[in-house]
Amino acid sequence: MEMLRAWLEGLPRVRLYAALLFIVWFSLTLLIGVDVRPAVSGGPSPPTVFLGVGIVVATEMWIAWYFLERFGSKILRKNALIRILLAASLLVLFTALARVFVLLSLPPYLIPLAGLSILGTILLGPRLMFVMVVIASVNVGIIAGNDFFLTATLLLTSGFAIYTVLRVGPRTQLLRAGLLIALVTAVVTFAVALIDGRNLRMAVELGGIGLANGILSLMLAMVLLPLLENVFNILTPQKLLELADTGNPLLQKLLRGAPGTFTHSMQVGELARNAAERIGADPLLARVGAYYHDVGKLEHPNYFVENQISRMNPHATLAPGLSARIIKRHVKDGVELGREWNLPSEVLDMVAEHHGATRIEYFYRKALEEALATGATVNESDFRYPGPCPKSKEAGILMLADSIEATVKSLEKPTPKRIEDIVNGTIRTKLEDGQFDQCELTMREIHETGEAIREAIIGFIGPRIEYPAAPGEQARPAKNSTSS
Ligand SMILES: [Fe+2]
Ligand SMILES: [Fe+2]
Repeated sequence: MEMLRAWLEGLPRVRLYAALLFIVWFSLTLLIGVDVRPAVSGGPSPPTVFLGVGIVVATEMWIAWYFLERFGSKILRKNALIRILLAASLLVLFTALARVFVLLSLPPYLIPLAGLSILGTILLGPRLMFVMVVIASVNVGIIAGNDFFLTATLLLTSGFAIYTVLRVGPRTQLLRAGLLIALVTAVVTFAVALIDGRNLRMAVELGGIGLANGILSLMLAMVLLPLLENVFNILTPQKLLELADTGNPLLQKLLRGAPGTFTHSMQVGELARNAAERIGADPLLARVGAYYHDVGKLEHPNYFVENQISRMNPHATLAPGLSARIIKRHVKDGVELGREWNLPSEVLDMVAEHHGATRIEYFYRKALEEALATGATVNESDFRYPGPCPKSKEAGILMLADSIEATVKSLEKPTPKRIEDIVNGTIRTKLEDGQFDQCELTMREIHETGEAIREAIIGFIGPRIEYPAAPGEQARPAKNSTSS
């Protein structure tokens, strides 16, 4: 899939989308038009049916093109190409499935289109899914012999499935949502059967088929979801919830190997979640990125201040340059460890970017002090993280939350004024240092992030805060900047 992704990324975008739309148009026209059994002529499809189907499917593709052109960049922020490829594959797959049902003479009301809604909503989001559901419902209605009562039923039940799935939390809750979808499918099918003029007994029978359809849709979605997640490497809310579980083996490893870092990561996670909620970024991604941002410290845990409780500080005997090299290393180690544990690329990016290209201030100053005595030269770039700088909003939030949490924790007597000074000082320093130059965060969002972090920190350490703050007091600088 990585090779396919790289190959696709190298192709001209417009030509690629045009080719994809043509392939989908061709496949759907063939699948739908092969045996429509039109009501007027009664017999097998005349060739002109293909013309009609071709025009209908071309209209659907035009709507899809317009939708992606208008909203694609907003709703498919990451891996847009792979997601569009997945959307096209799902559309063709479910149309083919409908054709198989008709070929096997299975009841058309059993065609599990709600399964497409469940899968697509989780993998691609509700807005794109809604367009796909409209297209698929029309197509399945034609395949089932121009049964537009079926189209109406599929539209209603698949639409309901989209909004039910949106409310689903962990994967275990998917079962409950699926059963609700099955129940609603039964009721809608029963109602449509009554409108179609069938008697109560027949409507109840059809309702039973609707119930079976819902259950089949759920089963199909549960089987295909992990498969498609892995093949297309798409980050779903369910996957993020699994990673946010502190029982996750990698987080448990962090807890055992570097307990101070684990506590720091949990607290940064809460700050990042708060800030992401405030500015409309993804709170779950922000929290998960924060949970894993320092896993690289597992390689040398006691070189980081938060893990040095009642232990000797190993930096005491090291040259500042060597200390900086060890500290910097945790970013690279984190990305490597994250890859080994199959963390999603969105989380790996946050691990790689959480320090951007900032300077390790404590050891840089120590090196300058030593150079003053020895006359040696200090290369500033040796004390900077290699980057890259944060790009997504969630990575930007993580950088601020991480840095502020570590600095506030180093205060012996935190006061609201000192905390506010640290928040403002951190934002100012990072901005002046160009750390947010490539980040999606706007200036207003950066300041709102700072405000949300400040409020959450005061909530955390409330009992430790000293009141009142001395007027005009300056925040004490961090003792050691190695803890973030
Ligand atoms: Fe950190
Ligand atoms: Fe870090």
